[in-house]
Amino acid sequence: PTGLLADALGRPLRDLRISVTDRCNFRCSYCMPKDIFDKDYPYLPHSSLLTFEEITRVARQFVAHGVQKIRLTGGEPLLRKNLEILIEQLAALRTVEGLPLDITLTTNGSLLARKALALKAAGLQRVTVSLDGLDDTTFRAMNDVDFPVADVLDGIACAQAAGLGPIKVNMVVKRGTNDDQILPMARHFKGTGIVLRFIEYMDVGATNGWRMDEVLPSAEVVQRIHRELPLVQLEPTSPGETAERWGYADGSGEIGVISSVTQAFCSDCNRARLSTEGQLYLCLFASQGHDLRHLIRGQATDEQLASAIAAIWQGRADRYSELRASLPPDAALGPRRVEMSYIGG
Ligand code: GTP
Ligand code: 5AD
Ligand code: SF4
Ligand code: SF4
Repeated sequence: PTGLLADALGRPLRDLRISVTDRCNFRCSYCMPKDIFDKDYPYLPHSSLLTFEEITRVARQFVAHGVQKIRLTGGEPLLRKNLEILIEQLAALRTVEGLPLDITLTTNGSLLARKALALKAAGLQRVTVSLDGLDDTTFRAMNDVDFPVADVLDGIACAQAAGLGPIKVNMVVKRGTNDDQILPMARHFKGTGIVLRFIEYMDVGATNGWRMDEVLPSAEVVQRIHRELPLVQLEPTSPGETAERWGYADGSGEIGVISSVTQAFCSDCNRARLSTEGQLYLCLFASQGHDLRHLIRGQATDEQLASAIAAIWQGRADRYSELRASLPPDAALGPRRVEMSYIGG
């Protein structure tokens, strides 16, 4: 590596999340509400998208700066044509730099049954699948395109069979909408080797109509599960990770809680986000990115690209969730934020 980068708050750069499309075949109300993401929504034109070669070139500079994990996101990343080819190119960075590099992907699971084997063959290590409940009516309402839960479960099974593990399942919890699914989900995934993680509904983006009273604090999730299935808290696997880990006392696996609203985890945040069109964002709640595409498409050398990335990271002082926690719950903080479907989860 070219050296260990630290941002203005002393945080290293370890995790690069790359959004490969701003489109999705679901319309989860907390992410891409139907009335806004309709047929007239201005999605990015094809010419704006970074090509696989451009993405890989940027990613290589990030790996040289100490990135150890690359996560592909969207929108729905499996909608990007020939994604396996990008994964092959990224997987090749492992040998180029001779460094450990975890390559993973966050998906809604709808295309996983069809693609799991090809993804594994291309060099993907694991997947994280979003699933907000087991009750078919609840799930169809939350994805808002009437997508059946059975097909996502099938996708998860195919990923497991393909060896894309350890698999994680992400459930966004909205009080009054799917909090009755917490226990059924815990029971279902307990003992399967799959790590279920409960995510607090976040005020990300500007269109989801977020309200504090729909957030169910993670402490309550843990309490509800613990009452029926005793839990013990586990040590973090790595500094700066999003989820707090809890193990079943009977040794049958673990769950996680991601508490961005009630217990911000900015102090060790080591994540950078590259948008589909090559804007670098330093926080999930940022309203402004740093344009890398003009460097990539201009005459910039790899060295110039690397030092631009270094300078951007060194200037980083973002800690949105921590700031939000110190304000009244419904206070608006800063200018209009980018959408999560654009920046990537
Ligand atoms: P692992 O590598 O498996 O630990 O994944 P991860 O937790 O880093 O990523 P994942 O895509 O599964 O994200 C889980 C949830 O945490 C999603 O809702 C993300 O939007 C949220 N999340 C991830 N990173 C951040 C972050 O830096 N800040 C905040 N506030 N939320 C984040
Ligand atoms: N709050 C919390 N999690 C969200 N996700 C998308 N929008 C939100 C939100 N407003 C989740 C997705 C996916 C992960 C990448 O982010 O469900 O699991
Ligand atoms: Fe699509 Fe994921 Fe957003 Fe749902 S949360 S609309 S599946 S990108
Ligand atoms: Fe990192 Fe921003 Fe999330 Fe804080 S709010 S953990 S700084 S991405």
